[in-house]
Amino acid sequence: MVETSSPPFTEHTEQLRRDIDTALEACVRQPDGCPSHLAQAIAYSLLARGKRLRPLLVLMAAEACGGTAKAAMPAACAVEMVHAYSLVHDDLPAMDDDDLRRGRPTCHKAFGEATAILAGDALLTMAFETMATGVHPPQVAAQCCAALARAAGPANMVGGQADDIAAQEGPSRGGRQTLAALESIHNRKTGAMIRVSLELGALVAGADRVQQDALDRYGRRLGLAFQITDDLLDVCSHEATAGKRVGKDAERGKLTFPGLMGVDPSTRRVEQLIQEACEALNPLATPTDHLETLARYVLERNR
Ligand code: IPE
Ligand code: IPE
Ligand code: MG
Ligand code: MG
Ligand code: MG
Repeated sequence: MVETSSPPFTEHTEQLRRDIDTALEACVRQPDGCPSHLAQAIAYSLLARGKRLRPLLVLMAAEACGGTAKAAMPAACAVEMVHAYSLVHDDLPAMDDDDLRRGRPTCHKAFGEATAILAGDALLTMAFETMATGVHPPQVAAQCCAALARAAGPANMVGGQADDIAAQEGPSRGGRQTLAALESIHNRKTGAMIRVSLELGALVAGADRVQQDALDRYGRRLGLAFQITDDLLDVCSHEATAGKRVGKDAERGKLTFPGLMGVDPSTRRVEQLIQEACEALNPLATPTDHLETLARYVLERNR
């Protein structure tokens, strides 16, 4: 899966990605009171060369439900901020202890550990300010804030991260090395943020139940597939392409798909999940080719 280069995005996807980057740049302009070292660390982590998968999902979900990318942009930026915070903290010495992220030194390597922790805190809180003030009407903004908080919180992303660390430390910390435990970790630490990205796009666009359910079924499969490919890239990719260290999961005793079931079965599982994700879009009456392209990208990505 990693021998070939990633498939090209459609022109529409590239345009959305440029729009996301422009909107994120506006988000990092800090008001008076933010120390410049902290402001630099926030901008460094948020504006780095990320794939922008989650904000793209927000915008494409909104479009697939008849809404506009413009109205969904604050929600898209909020999700990317929470994601950027999660990466800054994931890389800390107490967590995965990584020194390379998005092709450059991790936040704590560039700015120091205390500033990295605080930059993560700032990105998390900025996300909710962006959502609360940017999404309209206010009732929808409140629903979006609640959905994002749930997805990023202790029963989902943060809980999955806690169990990821516990699994690495073995049975003494309650870590179980079963496929069910692994899927549960992946669904929470990574899947939840991918699912909520689709949910937010749907909420902003005022989607009906059929649209919400179809996007959720797509998101569940895409989210798990995305973390399995992340595990596979750690085994099969190269640092220069991935923009982060590879080969570190096995070294640290992480519970991963290739570690538990091997590379080929893991690849087949991703293929199956992506096919199911695309099929889940069938009930949508609007064109879904951009979401399908994104799903295929997850299958074939090399970073
Ligand atoms: C990396 O996410 C961490 C995971 C949840 C697997 P991405 O692979 O989306 O990272 P960026 O945003 O492109 O850097
Ligand atoms: C990170 O998973 C998941 C979150 C940040 C929530 P990984 O630890 O596998 O991500 P990488 O490989 O460091 O990007
Ligand atoms: Mg991790
Ligand atoms: Mg990590
Ligand atoms: Mg990983």
